[in-house]
Amino acid sequence: MKNSFSSVIVGCMDWGSWRRNFDTSEMTELIEESVSLGLTSFDHADIYGDYTVEEQFGKALDKANVSRQDLQIISKCGIQYSCEARPHSVKHYQYDTAYIIESAERSIAHLQCDYLDLFLLHRPSPLMRPEAVAEAVNTLKAQGKIKAFGVSNFTPSQTDLIATQSQIAVNQIQCSLTHLSPFFDGSLDHMMTHGISPMAWSPIGKVFKDKSESTYRIHAVLNKLCEEYQATKDQIVLAWLMAHPSGIIPVVGTTQKERLATAAKAAEIKLSEIHWFELLVASQGHKVP
Ligand SMILES: NC(=O)c1ccc[n+]([C@@H]2O[C@H](COP(=O)([O-])OP(=O)(O)OC[C@H]3O[C@@H](n4cnc5c(N)ncnc54)[C@H](OP(=O)(O)O)[C@@H]3O)[C@@H](O)[C@H]2O)c1
Repeated sequence: MKNSFSSVIVGCMDWGSWRRNFDTSEMTELIEESVSLGLTSFDHADIYGDYTVEEQFGKALDKANVSRQDLQIISKCGIQYSCEARPHSVKHYQYDTAYIIESAERSIAHLQCDYLDLFLLHRPSPLMRPEAVAEAVNTLKAQGKIKAFGVSNFTPSQTDLIATQSQIAVNQIQCSLTHLSPFFDGSLDHMMTHGISPMAWSPIGKVFKDKSESTYRIHAVLNKLCEEYQATKDQIVLAWLMAHPSGIIPVVGTTQKERLATAAKAAEIKLSEIHWFELLVASQGHKVP
Protein backbone atom coordinates (compact mmCIF):
# COMPACT_ATOMS: atom_id res chain seq x y z
CA MET A 1 0.00 0.00 0.00
CA LYS A 2 2.62 2.55 1.08
CA ASN A 3 4.51 2.23 -2.20
CA SER A 4 1.60 3.71 -4.10
CA PHE A 5 2.01 7.11 -2.39
CA SER A 6 4.82 9.60 -2.86
CA SER A 7 7.48 9.51 -0.11
CA VAL A 8 5.94 12.69 1.30
CA ILE A 9 2.28 13.64 0.92
CA VAL A 10 1.20 17.21 0.18
CA GLY A 11 -1.35 18.36 2.77
CA CYS A 12 -3.98 20.75 1.41
CA MET A 13 -5.53 21.89 4.70
CA ASP A 14 -4.06 25.38 4.45
CA TRP A 15 -4.56 26.05 0.74
CA GLY A 16 -7.87 27.86 1.17
CA SER A 17 -9.72 30.02 3.66
CA TRP A 18 -8.07 28.54 6.77
CA ARG A 19 -4.76 30.14 5.80
CA ARG A 20 -3.40 30.88 2.34
CA ASN A 21 -6.54 31.76 0.37
CA PHE A 22 -4.99 30.65 -2.92
CA ASP A 23 -6.91 31.40 -6.08
CA THR A 24 -7.39 28.79 -8.82
CA SER A 25 -4.23 29.64 -10.75
CA GLU A 26 -2.10 29.58 -7.60
CA MET A 27 -3.52 26.14 -6.74
CA THR A 28 -2.93 24.89 -10.30
CA GLU A 29 0.67 26.09 -10.10
CA LEU A 30 1.21 24.37 -6.74
CA ILE A 31 -0.28 21.10 -8.01
CA GLU A 32 2.01 21.16 -11.07
CA GLU A 33 5.03 22.18 -8.99
CA SER A 34 4.40 19.37 -6.47
CA VAL A 35 4.04 16.77 -9.21
CA SER A 36 7.21 17.98 -10.91
CA LEU A 37 9.02 17.39 -7.61
CA GLY A 38 7.69 13.83 -7.48
CA LEU A 39 5.10 14.70 -4.85
CA THR A 40 2.10 13.10 -6.49
CA SER A 41 -0.05 12.43 -3.40
CA PHE A 42 -2.44 15.09 -2.05
CA ASP A 43 -4.20 14.97 1.31
CA HIS A 44 -7.68 16.48 1.70
CA ALA A 45 -10.67 16.35 4.02
CA ASP A 46 -14.18 17.54 3.28
CA ILE A 47 -13.95 20.07 6.14
CA TYR A 48 -10.84 21.98 4.98
CA GLY A 49 -11.64 25.65 4.50
CA ASP A 50 -15.08 25.07 6.04
CA TYR A 51 -15.99 22.57 3.27
CA THR A 52 -14.58 24.72 0.45
CA VAL A 53 -11.02 23.61 -0.37
CA GLU A 54 -11.92 20.40 -2.22
CA GLU A 55 -14.05 22.27 -4.73
CA GLN A 56 -11.37 24.93 -5.24
CA PHE A 57 -8.71 22.23 -5.69
CA GLY A 58 -10.95 20.42 -8.20
CA LYS A 59 -11.22 23.54 -10.35
CA ALA A 60 -7.44 23.95 -10.19
CA LEU A 61 -6.83 20.28 -10.96
CA ASP A 62 -9.04 20.55 -14.03
CA LYS A 63 -6.67 23.21 -15.38
CA ALA A 64 -3.43 21.54 -14.29
CA ASN A 65 -1.15 19.87 -16.77
CA VAL A 66 -1.07 16.56 -14.88
CA SER A 67 -2.68 13.16 -15.44
CA ARG A 68 -5.17 11.88 -12.92
CA GLN A 69 -3.66 8.37 -13.04
CA ASP A 70 -0.29 9.76 -11.92
CA LEU A 71 -1.83 11.26 -8.76
CA GLN A 72 -2.99 9.78 -5.49
CA ILE A 73 -5.83 11.72 -3.91
CA ILE A 74 -6.79 11.18 -0.29
CA SER A 75 -9.88 12.51 1.46
CA LYS A 76 -11.63 12.06 4.78
CA CYS A 77 -15.16 12.23 6.07
CA GLY A 78 -17.14 12.19 9.27
CA ILE A 79 -16.54 15.50 11.02
CA GLN A 80 -19.72 17.53 11.11
CA TYR A 81 -18.10 20.87 11.73
CA SER A 82 -20.29 23.75 12.81
CA CYS A 83 -19.84 26.61 10.31
CA GLU A 84 -21.79 28.68 7.81
CA ALA A 85 -22.02 25.78 5.34
CA ARG A 86 -23.29 23.44 8.05
CA PRO A 87 -24.91 25.30 10.95
CA HIS A 88 -25.10 22.36 13.36
CA SER A 89 -25.91 23.04 17.02
CA VAL A 90 -22.74 21.21 17.98
CA LYS A 91 -19.66 19.84 16.26
CA HIS A 92 -20.06 16.06 16.03
CA TYR A 93 -19.16 12.94 14.04
CA GLN A 94 -21.38 11.02 11.62
CA TYR A 95 -20.66 7.54 10.27
CA ASP A 96 -23.90 5.96 9.09
CA THR A 97 -23.71 4.12 5.76
CA ALA A 98 -25.61 6.66 3.69
CA TYR A 99 -23.60 9.60 5.02
CA ILE A 100 -20.21 7.93 4.37
CA ILE A 101 -21.21 7.13 0.78
CA GLU A 102 -22.63 10.61 0.22
CA SER A 103 -19.45 12.21 1.61
CA ALA A 104 -17.17 10.20 -0.67
CA GLU A 105 -19.33 11.01 -3.69
CA ARG A 106 -19.36 14.72 -2.80
CA SER A 107 -15.57 14.81 -2.32
CA ILE A 108 -15.04 13.06 -5.68
CA ALA A 109 -17.38 15.53 -7.43
CA HIS A 110 -15.76 18.55 -5.77
CA LEU A 111 -12.22 17.32 -6.44
CA GLN A 112 -13.13 16.41 -10.04
CA CYS A 113 -11.02 13.30 -9.61
CA ASP A 114 -13.36 10.39 -10.60
CA TYR A 115 -12.26 8.27 -7.63
CA LEU A 116 -10.32 8.56 -4.37
CA ASP A 117 -7.13 6.56 -3.95
CA LEU A 118 -7.69 6.53 -0.20
CA PHE A 119 -10.73 7.43 1.89
CA LEU A 120 -10.39 7.85 5.67
CA LEU A 121 -12.72 8.17 8.64
CA HIS A 122 -11.37 11.47 9.99
CA ARG A 123 -11.85 10.95 13.74
CA PRO A 124 -13.14 8.04 15.83
CA SER A 125 -16.71 8.38 17.07
CA PRO A 126 -18.05 6.66 20.19
CA LEU A 127 -21.18 5.89 18.14
CA MET A 128 -19.55 4.31 15.05
CA ARG A 129 -20.79 0.86 14.03
CA PRO A 130 -18.35 -1.40 12.17
CA GLU A 131 -21.11 -3.01 10.06
CA ALA A 132 -22.43 0.38 8.89
CA VAL A 133 -18.91 1.46 7.94
CA ALA A 134 -18.26 -1.84 6.12
CA GLU A 135 -21.44 -1.55 4.08
CA ALA A 136 -20.37 1.90 2.87
CA VAL A 137 -16.78 0.82 2.19
CA ASN A 138 -17.89 -2.27 0.25
CA THR A 139 -20.33 -0.24 -1.83
CA LEU A 140 -17.77 2.47 -2.62
CA LYS A 141 -15.08 -0.08 -3.51
CA ALA A 142 -17.44 -2.14 -5.68
CA GLN A 143 -18.41 1.02 -7.59
CA GLY A 144 -14.73 1.93 -8.08
CA LYS A 145 -15.19 5.17 -6.16
CA ILE A 146 -12.47 4.43 -3.61
CA LYS A 147 -9.35 2.33 -4.13
CA ALA A 148 -8.49 1.89 -0.46
CA PHE A 149 -9.98 2.63 2.93
CA GLY A 150 -8.48 3.72 6.23
CA VAL A 151 -8.86 5.67 9.44
CA SER A 152 -7.33 8.71 11.08
CA ASN A 153 -6.58 9.46 14.72
CA PHE A 154 -7.71 5.97 15.75
CA THR A 155 -6.25 4.10 18.73
CA PRO A 156 -5.31 0.43 18.24
CA SER A 157 -8.58 -0.77 19.80
CA GLN A 158 -10.70 1.61 17.71
CA THR A 159 -8.82 0.36 14.64
CA ASP A 160 -9.44 -3.26 15.65
CA LEU A 161 -13.15 -2.55 16.01
CA ILE A 162 -13.50 -1.22 12.45
CA ALA A 163 -11.09 -3.90 11.16
CA THR A 164 -13.50 -6.62 12.28
CA GLN A 165 -15.49 -5.81 9.12
CA SER A 166 -13.33 -3.65 6.82
CA GLN A 167 -9.76 -3.85 5.58
CA ILE A 168 -7.78 -0.88 6.89
CA ALA A 169 -4.86 0.25 4.72
CA VAL A 170 -3.78 3.39 6.58
CA ASN A 171 -4.10 5.19 9.91
CA GLN A 172 -3.24 8.89 9.62
CA ILE A 173 -2.11 10.11 13.04
CA GLN A 174 -0.38 13.04 14.65
CA CYS A 175 3.25 12.01 14.95
CA SER A 176 6.51 13.95 15.05
CA LEU A 177 9.68 14.66 16.97
CA THR A 178 7.58 16.83 19.28
CA HIS A 179 4.60 14.44 19.43
CA LEU A 180 6.15 11.16 20.48
CA SER A 181 3.25 9.22 21.98
CA PRO A 182 2.65 6.96 18.91
CA PHE A 183 6.16 5.55 19.38
CA PHE A 184 5.38 4.42 22.91
CA ASP A 185 1.59 3.91 23.23
CA GLY A 186 1.36 0.92 20.89
CA SER A 187 0.00 2.85 17.88
CA LEU A 188 2.93 2.22 15.53
CA ASP A 189 3.56 -1.32 16.84
CA HIS A 190 -0.08 -2.15 16.20
CA MET A 191 0.09 -0.81 12.64
CA MET A 192 3.24 -2.83 11.91
CA THR A 193 1.64 -5.95 13.36
CA HIS A 194 -1.45 -5.56 11.18
CA GLY A 195 0.15 -4.31 7.94
CA ILE A 196 -1.39 -0.84 8.27
CA SER A 197 0.60 2.09 6.81
CA PRO A 198 1.08 5.04 9.16
CA MET A 199 0.75 8.54 7.75
CA ALA A 200 1.97 11.35 10.03
CA TRP A 201 0.13 14.66 10.10
CA SER A 202 1.92 17.73 11.48
CA PRO A 203 5.20 15.86 10.86
CA ILE A 204 7.28 18.98 11.60
CA GLY A 205 5.46 19.38 14.90
CA LYS A 206 6.50 22.30 17.08
CA VAL A 207 10.14 22.29 16.01
CA PHE A 208 9.88 25.74 14.43
CA LYS A 209 6.74 26.96 16.22
CA ASP A 210 7.76 26.67 19.87
CA LYS A 211 10.63 28.24 21.72
CA SER A 212 10.89 25.73 24.56
CA GLU A 213 13.73 23.90 26.27
CA SER A 214 12.84 20.86 24.19
CA THR A 215 12.96 22.66 20.83
CA TYR A 216 16.16 24.45 21.91
CA ARG A 217 17.80 21.05 22.51
CA ILE A 218 16.37 19.70 19.22
CA HIS A 219 17.83 22.64 17.27
CA ALA A 220 21.24 22.10 18.87
CA VAL A 221 21.28 18.50 17.57
CA LEU A 222 19.80 19.55 14.21
CA ASN A 223 22.58 22.12 13.72
CA LYS A 224 25.14 19.34 14.04
CA LEU A 225 23.23 16.86 11.85
CA CYS A 226 22.59 19.38 9.08
CA GLU A 227 26.37 19.68 8.69
CA GLU A 228 26.90 15.96 8.85
CA TYR A 229 24.17 15.03 6.32
CA GLN A 230 24.38 18.25 4.24
CA ALA A 231 20.65 18.65 4.74
CA THR A 232 18.16 21.24 5.99
CA LYS A 233 16.52 21.04 9.41
CA ASP A 234 13.09 20.17 8.08
CA GLN A 235 14.65 17.38 5.98
CA ILE A 236 16.27 15.86 9.06
CA VAL A 237 13.00 16.10 11.01
CA LEU A 238 11.16 14.26 8.21
CA ALA A 239 14.00 11.74 7.77
CA TRP A 240 13.75 11.02 11.51
CA LEU A 241 10.11 9.94 11.06
CA MET A 242 10.88 7.98 7.91
CA ALA A 243 13.61 6.01 9.71
CA HIS A 244 10.98 4.20 11.78
CA PRO A 245 10.46 0.60 10.59
CA SER A 246 6.69 1.05 10.27
CA GLY A 247 7.27 3.11 7.09
CA ILE A 248 5.77 6.40 8.25
CA ILE A 249 4.70 8.67 5.36
CA PRO A 250 4.77 12.35 6.40
CA VAL A 251 1.85 14.59 5.33
CA VAL A 252 3.49 18.02 5.09
CA GLY A 253 1.58 21.25 5.46
CA THR A 254 3.92 23.75 3.86
CA THR A 255 2.74 25.54 0.73
CA GLN A 256 6.18 27.01 0.03
CA LYS A 257 7.75 25.57 -3.09
CA GLU A 258 11.29 25.61 -1.65
CA ARG A 259 10.16 23.65 1.40
CA LEU A 260 8.23 21.18 -0.74
CA ALA A 261 11.40 20.70 -2.78
CA THR A 262 13.50 19.89 0.28
CA ALA A 263 10.75 17.65 1.70
CA ALA A 264 10.72 15.73 -1.59
CA LYS A 265 14.36 14.82 -1.00
CA ALA A 266 14.04 13.92 2.69
CA ALA A 267 13.69 10.21 1.92
CA GLU A 268 17.23 10.22 0.52
CA ILE A 269 18.62 10.96 3.99
CA LYS A 270 19.26 7.79 5.96
CA LEU A 271 19.74 8.76 9.59
CA SER A 272 21.97 6.50 11.64
CA GLU A 273 20.46 4.82 14.70
CA ILE A 274 22.64 6.85 17.05
CA HIS A 275 21.49 10.13 15.46
CA TRP A 276 17.86 8.96 15.68
CA PHE A 277 18.33 8.49 19.41
CA GLU A 278 20.17 11.81 19.82
CA LEU A 279 17.07 13.57 18.48
CA LEU A 280 14.71 11.47 20.61
CA VAL A 281 16.69 12.27 23.74
CA ALA A 282 16.85 15.96 22.81
CA SER A 283 13.07 16.04 22.44
CA GLN A 284 12.38 14.13 25.67
CA GLY A 285 15.01 15.86 27.76
CA HIS A 286 16.15 12.58 29.32
CA LYS A 287 18.05 9.55 28.17
CA VAL A 288 16.30 6.26 27.45
CA PRO A 289 15.96 3.96 30.49
N1 LIG B 1 -5.91 13.62 9.86
C1 LIG B 1 -5.98 14.70 10.60
O1 LIG B 1 -6.71 14.75 11.60
C2 LIG B 1 -5.14 15.90 10.25
C3 LIG B 1 -5.02 16.97 11.17
C4 LIG B 1 -4.22 18.06 10.80
C5 LIG B 1 -3.57 18.08 9.56
N2 LIG B 1 -3.75 17.02 8.70
C6 LIG B 1 -3.04 17.01 7.38
O2 LIG B 1 -1.67 17.18 7.61
C7 LIG B 1 -1.16 18.25 6.81
C8 LIG B 1 0.03 18.88 7.46
O3 LIG B 1 -0.30 19.42 8.72
P1 LIG B 1 0.55 20.62 9.31
O4 LIG B 1 0.37 21.79 8.45
O5 LIG B 1 0.23 20.74 10.76
O6 LIG B 1 2.02 20.00 9.11
P2 LIG B 1 3.54 20.39 9.26
O7 LIG B 1 4.17 20.09 7.95
O8 LIG B 1 4.11 19.69 10.45
O9 LIG B 1 3.53 21.92 9.63
C9 LIG B 1 3.68 22.81 8.69
C10 LIG B 1 4.08 24.11 9.38
O10 LIG B 1 5.49 24.08 9.66
C11 LIG B 1 6.06 25.19 9.04
N3 LIG B 1 7.43 24.86 8.59
C12 LIG B 1 7.82 23.81 7.83
N4 LIG B 1 9.15 23.86 7.62
C13 LIG B 1 9.59 24.97 8.24
C14 LIG B 1 10.87 25.58 8.39
N5 LIG B 1 11.96 25.04 7.83
N6 LIG B 1 10.96 26.70 9.10
C15 LIG B 1 9.87 27.25 9.66
N7 LIG B 1 8.61 26.74 9.57
C16 LIG B 1 8.49 25.61 8.86
C17 LIG B 1 5.15 25.50 7.87
O11 LIG B 1 5.22 26.85 7.52
P3 LIG B 1 5.08 27.31 5.98
O12 LIG B 1 3.69 26.94 5.54
O13 LIG B 1 5.30 28.78 6.07
O14 LIG B 1 6.14 26.58 5.22
C18 LIG B 1 3.79 25.17 8.43
O15 LIG B 1 3.26 26.26 9.15
C19 LIG B 1 -2.37 19.16 6.60
O16 LIG B 1 -2.26 19.97 5.45
C20 LIG B 1 -3.47 18.13 6.44
O17 LIG B 1 -3.49 17.64 5.10
C21 LIG B 1 -4.50 15.95 9.03
